[in-house]
Amino acid sequence: MNQNDISLLNSELQNVHPKEILARVFADIPSFTLSFSGAEDVALIDMASKLMNAVPVFTLDTGRLHPETYEFLQLVRDRYAIDHHVISPDTAALEAFVANKGLYSFYEDGHEECCSVRKVEPLRRKLATVDAWITGQRRDQSPTRADVPIIELDQSFSSDSHPVIKVNPLANWSSEEVWTYIRMFDVPYNSLHDIGYLSIGCEPCTKPVGPNQHEREGRWWWEEATIKECGLHRSNLTEDS
Ligand code: ADX
Ligand code: SF4
Repeated sequence: MNQNDISLLNSELQNVHPKEILARVFADIPSFTLSFSGAEDVALIDMASKLMNAVPVFTLDTGRLHPETYEFLQLVRDRYAIDHHVISPDTAALEAFVANKGLYSFYEDGHEECCSVRKVEPLRRKLATVDAWITGQRRDQSPTRADVPIIELDQSFSSDSHPVIKVNPLANWSSEEVWTYIRMFDVPYNSLHDIGYLSIGCEPCTKPVGPNQHEREGRWWWEEATIKECGLHRSNLTEDS
């Protein structure tokens, strides 16, 4: 699939239900994996499981997730027949980083370095093995995601020899639509959502939000909203797609 095919498909899929978008990906792309953060993106696992057995799923286990998130990951593994790859950071890189910067350096000099070791390098390793990855990104999640396409060439993780396609089936869905789906189909969800968490990431970098706060205000709250991408979705900051 070249850039032209991807742009055409993106236009074609604009008003298509996320489950149908997944069906299209499963039919057209030989190797793909679904990224699962342990939050409301579980809706995609439910949809995908209705289309195929042993859905390939991965989670980046940063080592800093909430206990509730680990419990939820196991609940999802028990409930759905997924092929779940839980990916750890590179041991040597992580140990060197912690030896040098300690365990909370992100509060001092930003989240980029820690996310790079705990998320981005492991993701790069994973994406070297597939043609496409599927994410739960939505346009309403953040100012940085206002233009997220349904399908795109991943500018951050593609190389000349290995293009990587990124599919965002929930791009056009609102938070409300995702939660309506979760309730309608009795999809299990992370118990942190019941105590005020909307967006869920690592424990030290996530907090609950209050009434009328945007979900992103609970993530890296000490940083500017316009730079709140951790490297997984860095291309949202540079693309003008
Ligand atoms: S983040 O980049 O700010 O952490 P966010 O929590 O909004 O991302 O999640 C957006 C999408 O990124 C998720 O739906 C999922 O596809 C992917 N993602 C985020 N964190 C992880 C993770 N730890 N493991 C796998 N995928 C993740
Ligand atoms: Fe580190 Fe926080 Fe990034 Fe998690 S979200 S990898 S703890 S900086």
